[in-house]
Order: sequence, then C-alpha cells, then structure tokens
Amino acid sequence: MSDLQTGGGPAGALPLAYGHVDPALFPTEQLAEAAGEALAQQGQSALNYGAELGCGPLRDYLRSKLARDEGLALEPENLIITAGASGALDMALRLFTRPGDTVLVEAPSYHEALAVIRDYPVKLAAVPMDGDGLRVDALQRRLESLVDAGERPALLYTIPSFQNPSGVTLSAERRPQALELAYRHDLLIIEDDVYRDIYFEDPPPRSIFQMDTHGVTIRLGSFSKILAPGLRVGWAVGTAAQVERMAACGLTKSGGGANPFAAYVAAVFCERGWLEPHIVGLRQAYRQRREVLLAALRATMPPDVAWTEPAGGFFVWLTLPEPLSAAEVLQRAQRLGITFLTGEPFFTKGRKQGRRHIRVPFSYLELGDLTRGMEILAEAIRQSA
Ligand SMILES: Cc1ncc(COP(=O)(O)O)c(C=O)c1O
Repeated sequence: MSDLQTGGGPAGALPLAYGHVDPALFPTEQLAEAAGEALAQQGQSALNYGAELGCGPLRDYLRSKLARDEGLALEPENLIITAGASGALDMALRLFTRPGDTVLVEAPSYHEALAVIRDYPVKLAAVPMDGDGLRVDALQRRLESLVDAGERPALLYTIPSFQNPSGVTLSAERRPQALELAYRHDLLIIEDDVYRDIYFEDPPPRSIFQMDTHGVTIRLGSFSKILAPGLRVGWAVGTAAQVERMAACGLTKSGGGANPFAAYVAAVFCERGWLEPHIVGLRQAYRQRREVLLAALRATMPPDVAWTEPAGGFFVWLTLPEPLSAAEVLQRAQRLGITFLTGEPFFTKGRKQGRRHIRVPFSYLELGDLTRGMEILAEAIRQSA
C-alpha cells in the first residue's frame, strides 16, 4: 500500500513507483452486479460475522480452481480466506514464530512484506538470488551458519513466481532442494504466490506447496492481482493443523473470518464464470505492456545497464553499472518528470545492496507512458554518468 504514498514524487511526474494493478483494468460493472447479487442472495450471511475459515462458496470455488489449474486435491480444512496475502503473512508471523527467531527472506524481497516481518520481534536474514531465483546453495550455508551461531531459523518467506521486485521465477530444480533444506532444519516455508496466474507464455513450475510431502509449506494467494486489491481478500492453504491454528487465533475468534462481504462478492464473480476470462485479459494486457517496456529499454538504455526479462507478473529489475547510484539517477529523473523506487527498500541491508537497482513496474502505466518513462529514465542515467 505504501507504494501509493512513496510513488507520488513531484506533481505531474509519471509514477513508475506504483507496482499496482491499473485501475482501468478493474471489472467495475461486473463487481457492482456481483455485489448486488451477493446482497440479494446472501445478505444475512454476507453482512454478518463470518465463519472462521471464511466464506464457504468462495472456499469451494478456490478449491475447484486449484484442482483444475494445478491438480491440487485440497480438503475443506486445508484452505482459509484471509485479509489478502498480507493478512495471511501477518498471521503466519504471529502464530508460527517466537521472539528472537530468524526469518529468512530473498535478497531482494517485496519491501512491504519486510515491513510486516519487522512488526514482529524476529531477526531478518537475507539469501541472495540469481536468474533462477533464490540461491539454494546460499540458503544452505546461511542455515548452517545460523544454527552454528545458536540462532533458530524458523521461517522462509519466498515469492517463487515472477517475484516482486525482480520479476525472477524460482526454477523447477531448486524448489525441491529448498524443501529438503526446510525438512532438515524444521523450517516453515511461506510461499507467496500472488503472481502465479499472471504468466505470459507458460505457467510457472509446480508450487513448493504442491511438492511438499512433509507439510512444511503454507502457500498464499490473493484476489489483489487478479481482481481488485480493495476487496482485501486472499487465501492461505496448508495442512489441516496449520489452517486450524489460523482459524482458531484470537483475531479470527473475535472478528470472525476475513471480510465476509467482499468475499461473497468475489464468490459471485467467480461463480458467474467471470474470473477466468478476466485473468486471460489481464495476461494479454500485461504481456503487451512487458513487450513495450522491454522494447523501450532495448531502444533507449545506455550500454552496461542490465535488466531482467520476466515471464509473468508486474516487474522488471534494472541494474546500473558502477559507479552509478540509483538515488542520484532518481533525483535527475524526478526533475525530468518520472519517479520510481530505488533498490534500497527491497533489501534488509538496503544502503549497500540496493544502491544500483531500480524497480520498473509495467502493471500500472499505459503503453505510451511506459515508453516515455523509459526515454526519461535513460536520459537521467546518461546525465548521471
Ligand atoms: C509479493 C506480494 N505479496 C503480497 C502482496 C500484497 O497482496 P495483498 O493485497 O493480497 O495483501 C503484493 C502486492 O504488491 C506482492 O507483490
């Protein structure tokens, strides 16, 4: 959410900081119809405190979607509706870590997830990535050195598909390797897979959750990227015991399951058969934006600037050559009319590691603005060199 606060920059600047869905892509009229129907048919349930596991029809739909798309056979007790993926992550931190535990994250990682983790009295440890995602060799070394130092690594937070901010996907080979380490070190994996459906050619590899034979993974999904983030509806899948723990926590007991009204609206939208064509449309829209962005990068960037070429999701990750600093480029870029996020917030030790990186989302801006944005960024880089 704080992208909305940090992305503004000078008035009129093109907000390349926004890693959000373009509001023009919200299916507003269909959602209005779904809201009317949810009230007409389910008014008393939709407006009341909800079941701990969340809206029944939506849970049924999600289980059938996961079975259809991924061949996942989930029982009702394996899935809980949450207040977005953020709500589920917050819950996992609260319920499955103890003060002083170490939480492992990718370097870089989603900056707002780092903020959620920092709300808890845990230590953060970062593991580097490369073009195939989280480096499992580095994860192994990090786990061993933490254990040697008497620390308790409790949880790994990973975004394996079309990661925010790097756009990189964890390879099929590395997924079971990460799981093996989790089994060995009694590590809980939080697999944040909110971009999974936004693929441009092929779906990403099978999820870590699906490969997991020991029940050490909780996987998060969300309607934020495939429908509308204002619904604040997501889901978590895990073992019956993990899901039961989430359903039986104080927050859920006191307030009931997450966001019943919004969840009923989403359920009607899905039951009408509207979600599938909507996701197909989003894939087309974002694929086109990625093409335009990559073409603009190739046409405009000075030599030695490097970038990722994501196969899905919302983000391209730029690396500047030494000795350029992204903060300096940002200052010039803002004067020229764009604003963006530099790499710092995406790292646990931002100043050092994030200095040469820029996150470029292609989800929010239209095609012409993406091209113009890259022309301005290239000019700002040239002026800083
Ligand atoms: C990797 C990742 N996880 C979670 C979220 C937030 O999801 P939600 O809106 O479901 O809380 C985002 C949004 O940018 C994200 O990039």
